[in-house]
Amino acid sequence: MTQSDSTQDRHFLPPWADVTQNGPDDFTELNDSNGIYVTDSAGNELLDGPGGMWCVNAGHGREEIIEAVTRQMRGLSYASPWTMATPITTQLSARLASLAPGDLNNVFFTTGGSTAVDSALRFSYFYNNCLGRPEKKHVIARINGYHGSTYLSSSCSGKMREKLQMDMKDDTIHLIPCPKPNSRPKDVSIKAFCDEKVADLENKILELGADKVAAFVAEPILASGGVIVPPDGYFKRCHAVCKKYDVLFIADEVVTAFGRLGYHFASEDVFGVVPDMITTAKGLTSGYVPMGALFIADHLMDDIKNASNDARYFTNGFTYSGHPVAAAAAMANLDIFEKDNLLDHVRAISPYFRDSMQSLADIPVVTDLRVAGLMAGIEVELDADNPNEDRDCDFALKVDESCQKHGLLVRPIYNACVMSPPLTITKPQIDDMVQRLRAGFTDAIRDLS
Ligand SMILES: Cc1ncc(COP(=O)(O)O)c(C=O)c1O
Repeated sequence: MTQSDSTQDRHFLPPWADVTQNGPDDFTELNDSNGIYVTDSAGNELLDGPGGMWCVNAGHGREEIIEAVTRQMRGLSYASPWTMATPITTQLSARLASLAPGDLNNVFFTTGGSTAVDSALRFSYFYNNCLGRPEKKHVIARINGYHGSTYLSSSCSGKMREKLQMDMKDDTIHLIPCPKPNSRPKDVSIKAFCDEKVADLENKILELGADKVAAFVAEPILASGGVIVPPDGYFKRCHAVCKKYDVLFIADEVVTAFGRLGYHFASEDVFGVVPDMITTAKGLTSGYVPMGALFIADHLMDDIKNASNDARYFTNGFTYSGHPVAAAAAMANLDIFEKDNLLDHVRAISPYFRDSMQSLADIPVVTDLRVAGLMAGIEVELDADNPNEDRDCDFALKVDESCQKHGLLVRPIYNACVMSPPLTITKPQIDDMVQRLRAGFTDAIRDLS
């Protein structure tokens, strides 16, 4: 079929598309990048506030990654992970295992975050089958959590507006309330709220029967839910509840791993938890090429080995599991983390980022400002006396548009503007980002009248 250039973009169906429309005409076209900046096709430089999509952790245009990927492609572009080993992937597995907490020494590579979560869930089913308890299959997740876009991972996602026209596996996947502190009634203390949210998990396990529940899957910070930071101690206490009832604890660190909170993994270093499984992606390669990794604890493997003398095949995997080019990108990315002391940098600059973001709390429509490490969610509500989520979501989109005119990319998620810049960001760049955000908000508010 032939067509004019102007209609070419109608063939690209992006994620989350409104299929009644003819393609993403209003998407900004990006075609260049450097550090924390991207450039659109009109030549405007934009500060990459969302860091791509929580993923460009080492920043754009890193020659080290580009060279490593090129070198690997020249040498060996692909090998089947079913039957062949590649040194780069083997080295990466060992390096990741040495960085991972506790006994999470088994690294299963995937194509991204959804397939990492999917693989974790499938492993929890497989595990219980191997242990002779096939009825232990229910999974608990949370409202406002996001775990991906495969059937299983999307069924665990709790962003309810996005599930309306889609089928979900809801017979064995259950959502419990979101641990969002400012959703609590004014007369409920944070401590009482935390007790209640932990009890939600325990009660759900008891309701389903502990012998029926395979796993609880949770992000330490609910990223795509709008950077929801649960009360102190919540994650650790949920982990204890899971241990008590022999329920696997899956930490979804697709966003929080590889530096976003100042550590390779946040579970243990930030939250004091050694999960049974951890899912990662995004920052693993800083988004240069797709790759995810599921970390599985030794003790789960031991349980399977001890349960039988027969072979047990985890028949789950992808053509691109452990892709050597992605592995080369990940190795170069981890080298950058070391060489640039990126984790120290994130830990050092996070308080400045937090204070700078919180300086925006005086903007009249901002009702909640949540910050953790180098991630932030700015929630807006135009009229607290007349709540209207659609109106507030539209306004967040307007803020996004206005910020872009001021040279800043923002990611609107429902009624929140979310920031997760490259980890290389400096204090002057944070000042610049906050200034542009304020200007964007000012314009969007002015346009309301
Ligand atoms: C916490 C979390 N888990 C899983 C995913 C899915 O990852 P992917 O889009 O790479 O499949 C995401 C994506 O944003 C995420 O934020």
